[in-house]
Amino acid sequence: MAKINKKVYVGMSADLIHPGHINIIKKASEFGNVIIGLLTDKAIASYKRLPFMSYEQRKEVILNIKGVVEVIPQNSLDYRDNLKLVKPDIVVHGDDWKEGVQAKTRQQVIETLAKWGGKLVEFAYTQDISSTALNYQLMKSGTTTDIRRAKLRRLINAKPIVTILEAHNALSGLIVETTEIESDNKKVFFDGIWSSSLTDSTAKGKPDIEAIDMTSRINMINEIFEVTTKPMIFDADTGGKIEHFEFTVRSLDRTGVSAVVIEDKTGLKKNSLLGIDVTQTQDSIENFCNKIKAGKEAQISYDFMIIARIESLILEMGMKDAITRAKAYIKAGADGIMIHSRKKDPSEIIEFMQKFRKDDIFTPVVVVPTSFNSVTIKEFENIGVNIVISANHMLRAAYPAMLKVAKSILKNGRSLEAEPYCMPIKDILEFIPGTK
Ligand code: SPV
Ligand code: MG
Repeated sequence: MAKINKKVYVGMSADLIHPGHINIIKKASEFGNVIIGLLTDKAIASYKRLPFMSYEQRKEVILNIKGVVEVIPQNSLDYRDNLKLVKPDIVVHGDDWKEGVQAKTRQQVIETLAKWGGKLVEFAYTQDISSTALNYQLMKSGTTTDIRRAKLRRLINAKPIVTILEAHNALSGLIVETTEIESDNKKVFFDGIWSSSLTDSTAKGKPDIEAIDMTSRINMINEIFEVTTKPMIFDADTGGKIEHFEFTVRSLDRTGVSAVVIEDKTGLKKNSLLGIDVTQTQDSIENFCNKIKAGKEAQISYDFMIIARIESLILEMGMKDAITRAKAYIKAGADGIMIHSRKKDPSEIIEFMQKFRKDDIFTPVVVVPTSFNSVTIKEFENIGVNIVISANHMLRAAYPAMLKVAKSILKNGRSLEAEPYCMPIKDILEFIPGTK
């Protein structure tokens, strides 16, 4: 095929550039001018983890590879829109997409190219090098404070909905970090970690009344961060006095936490799920707005987020109050809203979302469906929620198992009967990275 003026299109994520990428680009450039369709964060997040580098960083690297004349964004795994735009003579791809998830995309590429006589050229996929393996090595060496902190905003922008799971120590943090399943040919995993006041307190045998001091909680964050790379949202209860909250924001920001949630209560805080069975006082809108403003002024990095949690539904103050507060808190500078409810029935959350989204389609909304747990992630996505937090499940799951085993050892005078309830020693050794 004559090389002159041929347009050659190559789609790629190009996060961890390895010889496999160079190989494909080299081969593509033998046919003509190479245009890279660089997958955006959104396109990548639709089927696997966010890339380490941002789109702009990846673009800069790829643009400087010999043979590449242009880099354009590819907004989904589907090539068709870009192909219609570019009308390439040739698409080059590794032959690893003939089977599996991408087989359909490949067929669409062939059919689209046929419309103007374009051709698909495939090369043997470079063996022994895979981004997944490189990814694993990078994971093992950890992350930086700045990269981790920025990840939450990137995830909110790239994914239709972000899923977060509670961790109260490094071991449960590892579960959030590593647990992954396959569903509909896509990888499904948690995007980040929730540091819960309830489970941090419970793990220390104390009530959820802001009795655990910030130093102790930050020590736990550091223990979790030592073995994970995912972003964290931190539950700071009421945030305390405005003057204290400023220090909390700085400490969390400096540690690499992505977001702090503060709830609009004042005085002795009790867990929200107790509702009006206990005395709980909601803060004034004015005072809470001042706290948000002070926090925003105190933060150091651009990426750190302050999420304002509205307790109006918990305290039965009504929907109108919840919406009024949401608007006021956003005006005061909140980067997101958390709307809480302790009802099993999700109707008040749905109503809030309908009313709130009428005037505001951008501000991220967080929910914690401990009570309204029949709603699926997909259903939350459909009503415009951005972040779903499973707030206490790791701790609640561990406790019954421990209790059962303790009782069994007492009853039998030995641990033999308890063994089926325990993780085999071999598995626990293998679960912790670096054991061998
Ligand atoms: C927590 O996990 O501590 C929370 C959520 O704040 S809730 O327990 O529902 O109040
Ligand atoms: Mg809490």
